Amino acid sequence: MTDYRFIKVTPLTPTIGATISGVDLSQPLGDEVFSEVRQAWFKHLVLFFRDQAISNQQHIAFGESFGALHIHPAAPYLDNNPALMKIHADETSSRNNGEDWHTDVSADEQPPMASILRITRTPLQGGDTLWSNMYAAFDALSPTMQALLMPLEAEHAADYSGFYGEHPPQRQSPSAIHPVIRLHPETKLPALYVNKGFTKRICGLTNIESKEVLSMLFDHIKNPNFQCRFQWQRDSMALWDNRCTQHMAVWDYFPETRSGVRVTIKGERPIAAR
Ligand code: SIN
Repeated sequence: MTDYRFIKVTPLTPTIGATISGVDLSQPLGDEVFSEVRQAWFKHLVLFFRDQAISNQQHIAFGESFGALHIHPAAPYLDNNPALMKIHADETSSRNNGEDWHTDVSADEQPPMASILRITRTPLQGGDTLWSNMYAAFDALSPTMQALLMPLEAEHAADYSGFYGEHPPQRQSPSAIHPVIRLHPETKLPALYVNKGFTKRICGLTNIESKEVLSMLFDHIKNPNFQCRFQWQRDSMALWDNRCTQHMAVWDYFPETRSGVRVTIKGERPIAAR
């Protein structure tokens, strides 16, 4: 049981997700509150904050308290600032952001450690986001499968061509090789680090072996026992750890509109858990 002096932490599930109250993200948090938020974040992996009617600059300031900001290779952005990734789907959209399970931009050599999303407009119903706990996904594999995966690496690649319409890309679609099981640099726990959005193949396996193992793992992470589901309201915010979670944004509200803005924090090169 963790004691918090300054914030109130209400878990969504025993495995992942917690709502934080007693925090105003329009202001600098101060060392003690920030330290409690980080403690809760490492424990619950994704934190939710309600009623945060903050400006984009305040959103950026909260992001920068975790580290330097990551710039998405291709996504459109707001306020002429590439650090403010635009999240939007409406009646003209042919896709939404993050419709399938993924961790953000794992195709980068140094993928983002965290993302902070604020939703500014919700559909009447739907538009929830789900997160899955990748420590739990690793722990639930048999010791034999864990031992098989532990030394392996996988290729991650993004292909953003045609993905964001006419918007010019910030840089080329990235690709990188990362460990299949990564060690979280703060908690020192092993986490499964392959995702359907970006992982193309497991190095050193034949094509058919790689395809079958990835397909099994992509199914495995969908187990509801590892997950939470968050129902957004206007000005809800979520802070998630990309190093030990995956997420998917449900697009069940077409042709209605859902909008938001995401600030993303740079991460380190993943290191293997072996
Ligand atoms: C994303 O960052 O993948 C989008 C998440 C969402 O819109 O809920």
